[in-house]
Amino acid sequence: MDTSYFKVDKNVDNLSTYPQIIEAADRLVKNEVVAFPTETVYGLGGNAKSDAAVRKIFAAKGRPSDNPLIIHISELQQIKEFVVEVPQTAELLMEKFWPGPLTIIFQKKAGVLSELATAGLSTVAIRMPEHPVALALIQASGLPIAAPSANRSGRPSPTTAEHVWEDLNGKVSAIVDGGSTGIGVESTVLDCTGDIPQILRPGGVTKEQLEAEIGLVKVDPALASQDKAPKSPGMKYTHYAPDAPLYLVKGSREYIQQLIFEKKREGLKVGVLTTVENRDYYESDIVQVCGQRSRLETVASGLYDALRSFNKSDVNIIFSEAFVHEGVGEAIMNRLLKAAGHKVITEN
Ligand code: TXA
Ligand code: MG
Repeated sequence: MDTSYFKVDKNVDNLSTYPQIIEAADRLVKNEVVAFPTETVYGLGGNAKSDAAVRKIFAAKGRPSDNPLIIHISELQQIKEFVVEVPQTAELLMEKFWPGPLTIIFQKKAGVLSELATAGLSTVAIRMPEHPVALALIQASGLPIAAPSANRSGRPSPTTAEHVWEDLNGKVSAIVDGGSTGIGVESTVLDCTGDIPQILRPGGVTKEQLEAEIGLVKVDPALASQDKAPKSPGMKYTHYAPDAPLYLVKGSREYIQQLIFEKKREGLKVGVLTTVENRDYYESDIVQVCGQRSRLETVASGLYDALRSFNKSDVNIIFSEAFVHEGVGEAIMNRLLKAAGHKVITEN
């Protein structure tokens, strides 16, 4: 398949009247799949009401079919069509955080969306992205848009159109390039179907921010352990991993440097994933900076690009610094743990 590449400037007015957006929306209406930017990561969109479109999403990504998709909307009123009810906590959160990086799980109204999009579950995940290109495209299509991150399954999520091109060129109808995404980690997935809302995936909206609005929020216990099955089907899969094995190191930079020297003595080519603060400290074959430790949002924003960059070198092993489990650090550590396949080295 020839993949079209549409470049758009996200800052112009009336984006939904732009020819590239209209063309991309037209492909969505024809049940083709189109990659587009959101404020978190690029998504691979398709008509959420069409089994044919949703099948194309799963095929292009090589995604397991038991992993449901997030339904993206551009207007609040759309959700009435496919949820049974909007709990009061969800209502408050939607008002505060939509559009934005918060996905909410609702009880699903049967028979409206493609069963494949929700992997046959009785619930549905919905979000309204805060990106002018995403909103314009959804609006122009007039459809609810099912969209997972636009990477091949298992790879780091794409934060630029080039990342999408690397993974999906030839596999999708079009890529809409609206520049780099801002937040860099995916939306927070929050289950609002129970008594107390529960975070199933940490992301762009922090637990602290949610609790400031609605009080107590639980976190799926499976996120902290490898033994329990996560409530969000997607969280059980290996994800974000570079080609070379990555070890997450909870320790000082001196300790990380020792680990690097040890591996270099064994003849390995070693990479280190670090921050602006420590970039000049390390002696390693590849030093990859993901952001500034003192400003965690820059780490979130640069993390996936840094992880992808290791694949352009022939490193044999990668050590990554660790971050605090606070604020967006929670999402960063969740992604790094997955990228490491839970291989953690702790300094005594
Ligand atoms: O920021 C984001 O959320 C990006 C952009 C493109 O919007 N999308 C994204 O989609 O990260 P994806 O498919 O890569 O991750 C969706 C996650 C998966 O872990 C999936 O299992 C979970 O949401 N999910 C979807 N529907 C669910 C449901 N009904 N119950 C529990 N988890 C659900
Ligand atoms: Mg994903």
